[in-house]
Amino acid sequence: MLVNKFHYLTKDYTPDNIVEVKNTYAYGSNEIIEEVYNAFKNMWTAAKKENLSLIITSSYRDYEFQERLWNNYAAANSEEWADSVAARAGYSEHQTGFTLDIVTYNSNMNDFEETDEFKWLQKNAYKYGFILRYQKGKENITGYNYEPWHFRYIGDIDIAKEIMERGICFEEYIQEVKSKIEKLKKSIN
Ligand code: DAL
Ligand code: ZN
Repeated sequence: MLVNKFHYLTKDYTPDNIVEVKNTYAYGSNEIIEEVYNAFKNMWTAAKKENLSLIITSSYRDYEFQERLWNNYAAANSEEWADSVAARAGYSEHQTGFTLDIVTYNSNMNDFEETDEFKWLQKNAYKYGFILRYQKGKENITGYNYEPWHFRYIGDIDIAKEIMERGICFEEYIQEVKSKIEKLKKSIN
């Protein structure tokens, strides 16, 4: 599922199999798709073995939550700035239930990039089916500022690995797949 500034979800879109996240793994109240939760727990355990602590700060967000979030950003600064850091309601990947914002203790979103946890995630997140969704240098494609904390569950480890190793963003990967399909279609005709 691709959700970005051009592909949106309806107001009433709610993912199936949403479960509550235990506070061992998250700050405050969080919900996520069960399959994503299980993958995160495996990743959390692997990180723990290396004395690294992963903690979820945001997960599934419904339409109304996203609307309030974007409105708050716009009110605090400007609509243009709000659009660079948060999705408008219906356009957030958080509404899919496949996305987690991950940080560590004693670090917030702004300095997460400097932590060992972030470095570990960059190397290992794919093994659990996650990719870093908004990379540095891809702002003009994703439409968002760099977000070292925002991880998207893809599920397929080989695809996640390819995306992370090549440093391409999800939009680029999907475009490549579409082009390959088009070429195949032409070769058949
Ligand atoms: N911060 C990301 C872009 C969102 O609001 O979904
Ligand atoms: Zn996020």
